[in-house]
Amino acid sequence: MAFGQQRIEYKTIDQMRIMHRSGLILDDALNQTIAAVSPGVTTAELDALFASLLKKAGATSNFLGYYDYPASICTSVNEEVVHGIPGPRVLERGDVLSIDGGAIVEGWHSDSARTVIVGAPSDADPADRRLSDITEESMWRGIAAMASAKYVGDIGDAIDDYVSAQPGKSLGILEDYVGHGIGSAMHMAPDVLNYRSKHRGPKLKPGMCLALEPMLVRGGLATITLADDWTVVTADKARAAHWEHSVAVHAKGIWVLTAADGGAEQLAPLGVTPVPLG
Ligand code: MF3
Ligand code: CO
Repeated sequence: MAFGQQRIEYKTIDQMRIMHRSGLILDDALNQTIAAVSPGVTTAELDALFASLLKKAGATSNFLGYYDYPASICTSVNEEVVHGIPGPRVLERGDVLSIDGGAIVEGWHSDSARTVIVGAPSDADPADRRLSDITEESMWRGIAAMASAKYVGDIGDAIDDYVSAQPGKSLGILEDYVGHGIGSAMHMAPDVLNYRSKHRGPKLKPGMCLALEPMLVRGGLATITLADDWTVVTADKARAAHWEHSVAVHAKGIWVLTAADGGAEQLAPLGVTPVPLG
């Protein structure tokens, strides 16, 4: 989807505060869902757990019913990149699982995804571990860039530069799916590309909230959508990873809405100190 044609929604601090409440509920629900991941668990069980956690916290799902999407999270396993539908699939040791979820509080949205490798650390293929780690760090590089970016396009530059600079076998950055603005809807303008482009995008300004979500692959960039009309897989069946956070830009700085510490720990080594919404 492309959101470039819509107007950007600039949020007030009070609106971003509600998004923050949504983001913290989401962060907690994702943490608990990820803690439940283990060999033998089905993706439908994870969805049911996540849905019950949102409900308990007083939030609703922005995924459920979105263009008739049937669940509250997306669970994408191995060659599945995004939008995998939870179901009877039983997770196995070494599976690369991305869990993508979202929440609505008082009409304000949050969206976040993480990748985990099922089982003990020793069950992970080192190449899969590297794939997820580089994807996560590329997201943090993109978030860090927001602290000083002039244009939204600077985010994609930072992600791309980091991924391209990695020694060893090169990883691909998907171009078929991009990040997005978020606020009173889950998917809003502007598009947030995860790669370097001559299109600089709009100026990054206070009041913008963006969901950054790099998707990296160990093989080629071509993707296919399965017959369920949702699940996106790599055409060559190479494994993919996906990390996502919703981030607010306000007058005094940036704050990661979907991380309990606003991103402080991960951003510190990058020389960025997130600033609370106040
Ligand atoms: N977080 C996902 C994204 O930004 C949204 C999934 S939409 C759903 O692509 F319908 F699959 F839930
Ligand atoms: Co998203």
